[in-house]
Amino acid sequence: MKLLHIDSSALGAASITRELGAAVVARWSEAVDGLQVEYRDLDRDPLPHLDGASLAKADPARAEEDERVLQQFLDADVVVVGAPMYNFAIPSTLKAWIDRIAVAGRTFRYTADGPQGLAGGKTVIVASGRGGLHAGAPTDFQEPYLQAVFAFLGIKQVQFVRAEGVALSPQHRTEALAAAHASIPAVAPRPQARVAEPLAA
Ligand SMILES: Cc1cc2nc3c(=O)[nH]c(=O)nc-3n(C[C@H](O)[C@H](O)[C@H](O)COP(=O)(O)O)c2cc1C
Repeated sequence: MKLLHIDSSALGAASITRELGAAVVARWSEAVDGLQVEYRDLDRDPLPHLDGASLAKADPARAEEDERVLQQFLDADVVVVGAPMYNFAIPSTLKAWIDRIAVAGRTFRYTADGPQGLAGGKTVIVASGRGGLHAGAPTDFQEPYLQAVFAFLGIKQVQFVRAEGVALSPQHRTEALAAAHASIPAVAPRPQARVAEPLAA
């Protein structure tokens, strides 16, 4: 079984999402014998913005790297994504990664019946951190966005491990982090079979 671990926080060792994502990966590593873990730190090793040259595959080295990023995602049974809220949404480094994995004909396609996700069967766990309180609020363009993107790719199983309100006070931060650790889901015994998932348009 393969697990892909993505980090995107710019706060280094002080990062909550890095801490939570690492705890999720540790849980999977304990539970699954021989788990193969691949890791990318998008803060230390960012992908460039998707631009016209990228789409045209004008630079062979760039195109090769983009294909490697896509294949790494396709190969993973479990994807753990560290996703802080930045300006109500996600870090642009994480958006650049999503721009490489959302590829027509590879992870989704349009049909006469609407879009169809082609990357189903994976489990995605998002380690989410927010300074304020946004759950269920119209200010949340981070978690609903990630849920929508992964659903569009056919992934039904998206779990959120959330620490929010961490900037409100030191006590909020401590309590939110403890609650987030306690909410880390148990490891499902087997991933779902990989099937294309039809989606409403
Ligand atoms: C550049 C930047 C933008 C941020 N924007 C928001 C925001 O819009 N709303 C919010 O509640 N918190 C915001 N925060 C606070 C972070 O969401 C919070 O610090 C969270 O813990 C970040 O995750 P991390 O600790 O893994 O980096 C922002 C932090 C940074 C550094």
